[in-house]
Amino acid sequence: MEHLFAWQTDAFSFVEDMRLDKYLCDAGVGTRSEVKKILKKEPVYINGNPEKDPGFQVKEEDEIVFRKEMLSREEFFYYLFHKPAGCVCAAVDHVHDTVFKYIPMNRKKDLSTVGRLDLDTEGLLLVTNDGIFHHAMTSPKREVPKLYYAEVTGTLIEEDIVKFASGLDIGDDKSAKPAKLEIVSSGDTSVGLVTVTEGRFHEVKRLFLACGKEVTYLKRLSMGDFQLDEALKPGEYRKFNEKEMNYVKKYKSGTI
Ligand code: URA
Repeated sequence: MEHLFAWQTDAFSFVEDMRLDKYLCDAGVGTRSEVKKILKKEPVYINGNPEKDPGFQVKEEDEIVFRKEMLSREEFFYYLFHKPAGCVCAAVDHVHDTVFKYIPMNRKKDLSTVGRLDLDTEGLLLVTNDGIFHHAMTSPKREVPKLYYAEVTGTLIEEDIVKFASGLDIGDDKSAKPAKLEIVSSGDTSVGLVTVTEGRFHEVKRLFLACGKEVTYLKRLSMGDFQLDEALKPGEYRKFNEKEMNYVKKYKSGTI
């Protein structure tokens, strides 16, 4: 999978000219003072010509290349990531890899994961620096549905469906909100599809535990309208496509 860099997208464009140092800042190269230091040492290529003047006026149509990568003035970044097991949804972790081992953080300005998946959970994870979109997807009021595929120990039975739907006591002050369980297969071990509208810590695992089952494998398949792209192998990511960018607009405007 080719890892696409955000600054190669044209999903957003800005029309006004701007100083080169501001442009580089906005593209995530560094802070204004870091950028000025960088420019003293190495040039940025504007339409193929080396440029070191921080005050150089960049035009919209200019092609800006820094360290062999094309930059863009994009303000917000949106990634659909197939999270593998073995990494955590944090900016820094001293024990485990973080998702930013896969989606380089350094030049992408405050990226964060939209909600969290456990260390051992795989599947769909949205990553962005758009705080309004992030909030729209995770605000408890919005009750954005999250669909999980779960393999569990023990036999799933109809009664479990009823229990999930009733709002289980999962050990918190408040019961869990009603969740949907669909039994895919049932035997010594079972498979279920679970839809939750909250984002509580270990929620799916604790729902099953409240029914006497232990989750042995968990994968998120969707979050609201966003679906896991099965073309992405675990550890791979891509920019949102046009359809997904339309979802962003809708979630942000509150029409979803
Ligand atoms: N529920 C869980 O138990 N774990 C996750 O990673 C996500 C939802």
